[in-house]
Amino acid sequence: MASSSSNNIDLSGPTYCVLSGASQGIGRAIAVEISKLLGPNSLMLLLARNKAELAVTASLCESDKVKVIFNSIDLSKASNDEMKAVLNNSLAGRKVTDFNTSLIFHNVGSLGNLAVETFRMENMEELRDYYDLNVFKVIAMNTQFLKIFEEVEDRVVVVNITSLCAIKPMSGMAYYCSGKAAREMYFKVLAEEKKRIRILNYSPGPVETAMIDYVLAETVNENLRDVFTTFKNQGTLLKPEMTAKKCVRVLQAGKFAPGEHVDYFDDE
Ligand SMILES: NC(=O)c1ccc[n+]([C@@H]2O[C@H](COP(=O)([O-])OP(=O)(O)OC[C@H]3O[C@@H](n4cnc5c(N)ncnc54)[C@H](OP(=O)(O)O)[C@@H]3O)[C@@H](O)[C@H]2O)c1
Repeated sequence: MASSSSNNIDLSGPTYCVLSGASQGIGRAIAVEISKLLGPNSLMLLLARNKAELAVTASLCESDKVKVIFNSIDLSKASNDEMKAVLNNSLAGRKVTDFNTSLIFHNVGSLGNLAVETFRMENMEELRDYYDLNVFKVIAMNTQFLKIFEEVEDRVVVVNITSLCAIKPMSGMAYYCSGKAAREMYFKVLAEEKKRIRILNYSPGPVETAMIDYVLAETVNENLRDVFTTFKNQGTLLKPEMTAKKCVRVLQAGKFAPGEHVDYFDDE
């Protein structure tokens, strides 16, 4: 079962695990860490656009115990029906009751337009596109997942990969901060309503991924450039594996309040 009286989340039985943004970075690292813990007859579904890189992640996760399926999908465009089909197809006839725990990681994310100053934001179509991928489609995917697993709600675990930027403003990142805040709050409200579902908002800390290079290449904000240049030059960025291990430890221990924002740097 997803939870026991000790709050631990048991992944040692047959587990179903969906992970978005699994083609690189933090998503790949979480996929690898979680795959090591899953029990026999587990099934993972990895989602992102880059099929070749998804195949690499899948090969790192596949084992005697864990079957891995991956699907190239543009999550900014996918309809509810497409999301439902991707989830149902991955189950390939297996019943939701076949799994002791059903887990979804909403890791997909992008930074948005870093070349526009916040006081000049006026391209609402672009902002809407940003919110589609980072907020609306995350909610839509979560809803499709919850519908499929409704009869075993007490075995469902949801992890939203959030950011310090969801709770602390960072100049030059209005798209990102506002999107992360909205996304995190949706999961917090869900956690208030659905006490049987375990919901964690995990904030990975500053991690050495493509996102960091994107910030340095795109930002017009001097403060943001300075913060990230310092991270890079001082070697303070975390490796994806470090934060993935912490995320999985926090999850397994299960000592988080419903919808709690837990950061990499928080004490365990
Ligand atoms: N890196 C950090 O310092 C940091 C800090 C705090 C929070 N986070 C959060 O951690 C998560 C992962 O970030 P990361 O640093 O690992 O970033 P990343 O290396 O840029 O990875 C982003 C992932 O999202 C996928 N993705 C992007 N657009 C997509 C689309 N339209 N459809 C489907 N998949 C899409 C990418 O795959 P494809 O390109 O193959 O589609 C990729 O797998 C994000 O939610 C991010 O906000 C990161």
